[in-house]
Amino acid sequence: MPAERDASAPKTDLEKRIADEARFIRSWIDNPLQAGALSPSSRFLSKMMAHAVDPLTAGPIVELGPGTGPVTQALIERGVAPGRLVLVEYDEGFCRLLATRFPQARVVQGDAYNLPATLRDRLDAPPAAVVSSLPLLNRPEALRLRLLADALELMEPEGVFVQFTYGMVSPVPRGRRGHRYRWFQAEASPPILRNLPPARVWAYRRAGVEGRVFAEEPDLIDRFKETTGKVKDEWRERAEKAQVELAELKEKTLRLQDEWREKSDRAEAKLKEGADRLQAELKDGVDRLQLELKDGVERLQGELKGVAGKTRDGLLAGARKLLIEIEDGTRKLRDKLEEKAREREAKERAARKTGEP
Ligand SMILES: C[S@@+](CC[C@H](N)C(=O)[O-])C[C@H]1O[C@@H](n2cnc3c(N)ncnc32)[C@H](O)[C@@H]1O
Repeated sequence: MPAERDASAPKTDLEKRIADEARFIRSWIDNPLQAGALSPSSRFLSKMMAHAVDPLTAGPIVELGPGTGPVTQALIERGVAPGRLVLVEYDEGFCRLLATRFPQARVVQGDAYNLPATLRDRLDAPPAAVVSSLPLLNRPEALRLRLLADALELMEPEGVFVQFTYGMVSPVPRGRRGHRYRWFQAEASPPILRNLPPARVWAYRRAGVEGRVFAEEPDLIDRFKETTGKVKDEWRERAEKAQVELAELKEKTLRLQDEWREKSDRAEAKLKEGADRLQAELKDGVDRLQLELKDGVERLQGELKGVAGKTRDGLLAGARKLLIEIEDGTRKLRDKLEEKAREREAKERAARKTGEP
């Protein structure tokens, strides 16, 4: 597969790590069962995987599910020549990346669970080791057993099949219904606490192969103890730091609470003051209005009284005037009637004198 060069490829280790994390998340989103993990293995886990491989043995080293290549890199750092590596990966994008990162290795895009077919004509010699990061626990036990059997069958008699797991027990079942399988032997590494989540590496070989994989390095247990001690110290330090930070946070929260209480008390007092002032102003206004209203009513009453008095006086004067006029008229009428009566009497008297009727 041709290596692809990408101008925008990350340059620093940190950039590379972030880009690998992103690739992993993308592959997990595309196919969570196939990816098996959300991020690449840590260097601690990768180193333990590589530790199970003896770089001095002859033959190719087959890696199953190399992903972005942290275990591949650890194998090279362990002393395995890159030209001996055969990388079997299902994901096309990872295959392209691996070809770029490890141009001397042979990248095979295919199904690692079908090793005989996938590796047919791809190997120059029986492999010395098969190193697997496949998410085995997603697969049925029978398939895991078949994978191990195929791998052991493919390798030199001393060959080792290496597999990591986040589980507590061997990811390849070691027996059934209380009976141990007799065709292979299994050995576990110390837990790798610095990997998140903590993991363990298992090494499987044909039954009867002598020696141990993880104990061969004489100071491995001491180093494990030392690492465990360091991790404990680190965690204690972190816990202490966290406690201090927590106490600071608590203090800050209390201070903030006090500030808030003070502020809210002040705001409440101001609010109350404003409300009181408003109430007083309102009461003043109402009182003033009441007074003005009373004044107005009184003034109106006075004016009404005045008007009524004036009207009565006017009426009396009118009546009096009318009475005088009536008396006047009556008198004049009486005078006229008396005059007329006198005139008629005079006429009658004159007529009687002349004998006229
Ligand atoms: C848990 S990841 C491990 C990747 C890498 N070795 C690491 O440790 O970070 C599993 C890898 O196995 C690959 N894989 C899953 N099923 C596979 C299969 N049937 N054949 C080949 N590769 C497979 C995935 O694409 C993924 O890269």
